[in-house]
Amino acid sequence: MAPILRSKEEREKIRETGHIVAEVLAELRSSIAPGITTGDIDTIAVEVLKRFGATSSSLGYHGYPASLCTSVNEEVVHGIPGKRVLRDGDIVTLDLAASYKGWHADSAVTVSVGSASADARRLLKVTEEALYRGIAAARVGNRLLDISRAVQQHVEKVGFFIVRHYSGHGIGRSMHEDPQILNYVETSDPDSMLRLKAGMVIAIEPMVIIGTEETRDLEDGWTSVSADGTYAAHFEHTIAVTEGDAEILTL
Ligand code: MF3
Ligand code: CO
Repeated sequence: MAPILRSKEEREKIRETGHIVAEVLAELRSSIAPGITTGDIDTIAVEVLKRFGATSSSLGYHGYPASLCTSVNEEVVHGIPGKRVLRDGDIVTLDLAASYKGWHADSAVTVSVGSASADARRLLKVTEEALYRGIAAARVGNRLLDISRAVQQHVEKVGFFIVRHYSGHGIGRSMHEDPQILNYVETSDPDSMLRLKAGMVIAIEPMVIIGTEETRDLEDGWTSVSADGTYAAHFEHTIAVTEGDAEILTL
């Protein structure tokens, strides 16, 4: 299906939501310290969203029970906030999609709690860099797989692993729209050959594991963890493709 192209005005609406997502994530980051629970972080997210008049896009999505996803250490994605206490040396992904005036934006960041190990810090750095490589490849005339390739090469160059089970996505009137944005090159994916056009709004979100590409799901039906128990990281921005550099809407 042809990807939806958003006008300048529509992109500015998504940017408004994106600003809110960024503000909430900034407040969550500053709240993180050893001793806080993931449920406490979710509570803060709810409060800050409310202050902005925005709502979580995740709450109730296919029955998802929280407003935020919090994924700790070997958890890759969709960790459910709850009683878990964060400890010095943990890493935690804060993944937030929100809606404001009918427009969605989505962003994620993995941060360390107190002093993370050198391994963990390297994982965070490489995963964030991979996101930015993908954003730099999001240029008119390139194909979707140029984004995928840029992300994949950066991660595999250092020997880490791309999670293949999850991908980025178009975003706008819904949290998840076509096309999907793979984090690895898969030429049999018909979307991968699509040419990027000005006005496309997409969420790029590499998920990276230190030791494996395999994940498994926990019994809560949501949390995905690395199969080998090694750390996972996840960085995400919502961006707009333009005639020049892509614009990051979740800043
Ligand atoms: N923010 C996640 C994403 O990047 C999805 C939210 S969790 C869900 O797509 F439960 F709502 F799916
Ligand atoms: Co997303």
